Amino acid sequence: LAKLKTNKLGRPLFLFDQLDSTQNEAQRRLSEGAEEGSLILAEEQTAGKGRLGRSWHSPPGKGLWMSLILKPDIPFASAPHLTLLTAVALCRCIRRLTKIEALIKWPNDLLVAGKKISGILLETRLEEERLVSVAAGIGICVNLEQADFPAELQDKATSLMLAGGEPVDREVLLVAFLEEMEHWYELYLREGFAPIRTVWEALSTSLQRRVAVGGVEGMAVGLNEQGALLVRLDDGRTVPIFSSNIAESTP
Ligand code: BTN
Repeated sequence: LAKLKTNKLGRPLFLFDQLDSTQNEAQRRLSEGAEEGSLILAEEQTAGKGRLGRSWHSPPGKGLWMSLILKPDIPFASAPHLTLLTAVALCRCIRRLTKIEALIKWPNDLLVAGKKISGILLETRLEEERLVSVAAGIGICVNLEQADFPAELQDKATSLMLAGGEPVDREVLLVAFLEEMEHWYELYLREGFAPIRTVWEALSTSLQRRVAVGGVEGMAVGLNEQGALLVRLDDGRTVPIFSSNIAESTP
């Protein structure tokens, strides 16, 4: 990546034609002492992993399938912050580069016109309640055609190319993402979650909507300091909901 201007993120870079999952490779590298900033990238994944045990469709050559290793040394309870900050970095980078108006669906899906364009999966390692390392797995559907998506994703998923009407250079996107990510990550380590929370809320499509999540139903009204979604129930109480899946319900 000739033009990469980051201090740490994206160095070193491990590029593979094919992997089972970049997350698995990240775990292998972590066991060998991989340093913060290491990036694992695969042209194709044969067993890409999504959240909640789902699989992630990762055909060759048309997406960015990657895992970024971070070693933030923060309390385990702060792990949701990293998910939300990754979503902010990705959303801002897509908007800057393509003018596509991507939005964040809680906690960390990126949507364009209601369809998913990117997913984020964090896997963490702990020691004595501290988060010693994180493999931040990021999948971006960059230049997939409609026919590249399997039948069950046809009306749920899209790509930057389909949404913006032209192909996106994957290397340019990767460099822009890493620079944006480093900016938010360094800001987070310096100033905490507050600035990220504000930007996340501004980019979110989940707020001021009725949601059914974690066994409750109500209006999503914001994030709390821990990164939980605040849901106002019909009886007026507001409860924090930690990351699971969010399904929108009809009022
Ligand atoms: C989700 O929305 O369910 C999260 C999807 C995360 C997919 C990425 S692709 C690169 C990395 N390696 C994986 O196996 N999964 C993540």
